Amino acid sequence: MRIESLRPAEHLGNVTIHGVRRFLELDSGAPSLPHLQESREVEMVDQQAISDVEKKMAIILPIKDEDLKVFEGVLSGIPHDCLMIVISNSSKQEVDNFKNEKDIVSRFCRITHRQAIVVHQKNPELAGAIADAGYPELLGKDGLIRSGKAEGMILGIILTMFSGREYVGFIDTDNYIPGAVWEYAKHFATGFNLAQSPYSMVRVLWKYKPKLVGDLYFKRWGRVSEVTNKHLNHLISSKGKFETEIIKTGNAGEHAMSIELAKRLTYGTGYAVETKEIMSILEQFSGILPIEDREVAEEGVEILQTETINPHLHEDKGGDHLIQDMLLPSLAVIYHSPLADESVKKKIENQLAGIEGLENNPEIPQVKLIPPPQKMDLAKFSAVIEKYLPQMVLPDGELISRIARPSRLPSSGQFKKVIYTDLDGTLLSPLTYSYSTALDALRLLKDKELPLVFCSAKTMGEQDLYRNELGIKDPFITENGGAIFIPKDYFRLPFAYDRVAGNYLVIELGMSYKDIRHILKKALAEACTEIENSERAGNIFITSFGDMSVEDVSRLTDLNLKQAELAKQREYSETVHIEGDKRSTNIVLNHIQQNGLEYSFGGRFYEVTGGNDKGKAIKVLNELFRLNFGNIHTFGLGDSENDYSMLETVDSPILVQRPGNKWHKMRLRNPSYVRGVGPEGFSRAVTDIILPME
Ligand code: GDP
Ligand code: CO
Repeated sequence: MRIESLRPAEHLGNVTIHGVRRFLELDSGAPSLPHLQESREVEMVDQQAISDVEKKMAIILPIKDEDLKVFEGVLSGIPHDCLMIVISNSSKQEVDNFKNEKDIVSRFCRITHRQAIVVHQKNPELAGAIADAGYPELLGKDGLIRSGKAEGMILGIILTMFSGREYVGFIDTDNYIPGAVWEYAKHFATGFNLAQSPYSMVRVLWKYKPKLVGDLYFKRWGRVSEVTNKHLNHLISSKGKFETEIIKTGNAGEHAMSIELAKRLTYGTGYAVETKEIMSILEQFSGILPIEDREVAEEGVEILQTETINPHLHEDKGGDHLIQDMLLPSLAVIYHSPLADESVKKKIENQLAGIEGLENNPEIPQVKLIPPPQKMDLAKFSAVIEKYLPQMVLPDGELISRIARPSRLPSSGQFKKVIYTDLDGTLLSPLTYSYSTALDALRLLKDKELPLVFCSAKTMGEQDLYRNELGIKDPFITENGGAIFIPKDYFRLPFAYDRVAGNYLVIELGMSYKDIRHILKKALAEACTEIENSERAGNIFITSFGDMSVEDVSRLTDLNLKQAELAKQREYSETVHIEGDKRSTNIVLNHIQQNGLEYSFGGRFYEVTGGNDKGKAIKVLNELFRLNFGNIHTFGLGDSENDYSMLETVDSPILVQRPGNKWHKMRLRNPSYVRGVGPEGFSRAVTDIILPME
């Protein structure tokens, strides 16, 4: 994203309101090269930074009997890594709209390998959980959650807190342009990247100039927001020395907040909700009124405003009364604010007196308010809701057992230890492939419920065999980081994965075996030509697992037939055996690299991949551990060069000895060296380093 550089901002005590910034470019290409200086008018936020926020963001989709085709379009515009939370208040009568919505989300999630939380606002279990958790203000006389988009939004905030996401964004489901939906989410992520404070809000100003559809609607809407902004700005002006027009998004429906801010705000209901958010920020945190939350005051609160490139086109449902219906509540929350002085109130009274239909109605009604969601006991809510999650998380069935293991959460402030281990030469003896001397240590880890994650060049089939023999139920990383296999019921919270394999959800990081084979063939042919034409290069003999029979692999590796068969079932890497002089070998390796592949040497064989490594996979898995377990401390155990990226990535790298009682030399920040070859070293690392670190 390229966006206009910082505009002048207004400061009201601890609250900073940034001026509207236009987006200049929706895609800004590959990470910028260091020599490419941005001009002073332009600020750049790169894809990676945006995608990092999207992974932590939930998008709330309020829906009430919308056109299903339009809804489907909106879904397709939500960035892949955002968690979709659909809050429906649709009819379940003659036509069960809610069921249709669920079907659409379910299909969408299945096809796109995503997950969503879909709930009905009138779900009695949800209302029960909210009542138990001490938040009755959200409920009506019938004990159910009250109707209204605002109440739906608050329910969305609660479910976002429950899901562990750090940001919450709101996007209406009556939007005709999926590209605009996509852009809103990008604005949210960009805004959070630009914000300095953990308590921040991003509000989106639409570009709305639709000549064809809903012209009238947009004129009315434009009028409502113009008036709301005017009075908000007047209130802000009244607190400072200068007139300001800083606020342009007083009614912005498309907006997002860090959950730390969202859970602290008092909310308005009905059409007042968006305006009230700004008022609550000013009332609670500016410092004009006594401050309750010191922490927030110290960090400050930021409101960012951005303007879209896509036009906004949505369903026109507003009748003639739109102006009164929308404007009155918005102005009421300004009018009744303790921040409003006489001049602010007077201006609002005059404004309303000039509006048709309101001139004879001098009373400005109080808007019903809802206290901050943090009032609610989230642990209690979660405990009740866990058992209903299978019905709320789509696609059906997938998540049923993936939820509900709160007992695994360490209490706050504690660190959960996670252990990554190499297999060949570390947990398994480099000579006999035996793990028997590590059995006591494995039992100790199991007693302490510490995850032991295999991270090896071995295939899924090979690793599964060992995991079954040892009764290990943790995720594992195959083929040098080619993929992460996660048992379906392992993590409590939903996450994005690429495919399902039996009982595992698989996150794929590597290039497919087929593609690797294809490129490798080309590279080897090139290398052979060069070797043939070179006078000094000698003979060379190259074989790959893919070209060999099970018997051949068994003979070459000393694996038994069953193991050799599993070793041949490669998905993200090819094992290459090279016999030849150094010069020829280097020619081969060079051609492999020149063709865009990477290799690592495991002692006897070269593992050729599309560039994945153990470290990259560990980073991805660490995110999931953190999300589900809170703070983690990671250990890595390895013995050889191809463990380098793993050891470099973990908090505590540990090297075991190789045959000859020597440690492999590598440059690491804070390595521990344990005595003992393979599984003996593994055992000593567990008893002497991992467990004592309580
Ligand atoms: P406008 O777009 O601001 O004119 O307001 P809409 O009436 O179109 O509503 C905005 C969004 O909120 C749409 O996606 C609606 O489907 C949704 N919505 C409206 N009322 C409710 C409600 O009571 N509950 C929920 N969950 N969503 C609602
Ligand atoms: Co709408």
